[in-house]
Amino acid sequence: MTLLKIAQIGHPVLRQPARRVTLEELGTPAIQGFIDDLVATMHDAQGAGLAANQVHTPLRICAIEVGDNPRYPYKPKIPLTILVNPVLTPIGDERFENYEGCLSVPDLRGKVWRHAELRVEALDRHGNPIDAIVRGITAGTYQHECDHLDGKLFVDRVHDPRTLCTWKEFARHHEAAFREEVRSIVARFGS
Ligand code: NI
Repeated sequence: MTLLKIAQIGHPVLRQPARRVTLEELGTPAIQGFIDDLVATMHDAQGAGLAANQVHTPLRICAIEVGDNPRYPYKPKIPLTILVNPVLTPIGDERFENYEGCLSVPDLRGKVWRHAELRVEALDRHGNPIDAIVRGITAGTYQHECDHLDGKLFVDRVHDPRTLCTWKEFARHHEAAFREEVRSIVARFGS
């Protein structure tokens, strides 16, 4: 297992739409080893997700997992999920405001609108189809990671720059209110 270097905002690889992975490629030891490294790097950096282009590999693969995460203590848990060539389709018009951060955007958080309910179509790491519905905060995490694969960062979607804050000031001034919002989103959507 190798820990990979995480690209930081300003690096062009983060702005390049990633390319689809063929089923043949997905089965190769090179890609399977890369997915292991992506997961190890996400764990090491305590991310809730990590997209392949964040580690300088512009393929449509991302990892998502939320356990007991000290960066996001209020996030509902998500089991380790690998999405290959994911396509997200919003269900309905409902949106919520998510306070996001990113391993590629050091020490910054900001509020973005996210769809509250999505259909997710993708392959898992073994090439099996995934067709699932995700909701609430979890849907926000999925949208953040899939945005990376299109060369988008959460800062592109911050509608009010006055919500931008460092992690320290988030904890001091915004976390309590956001936890309340998270509680109502989880109550409503179950995740
Ligand atoms: Ni990110």
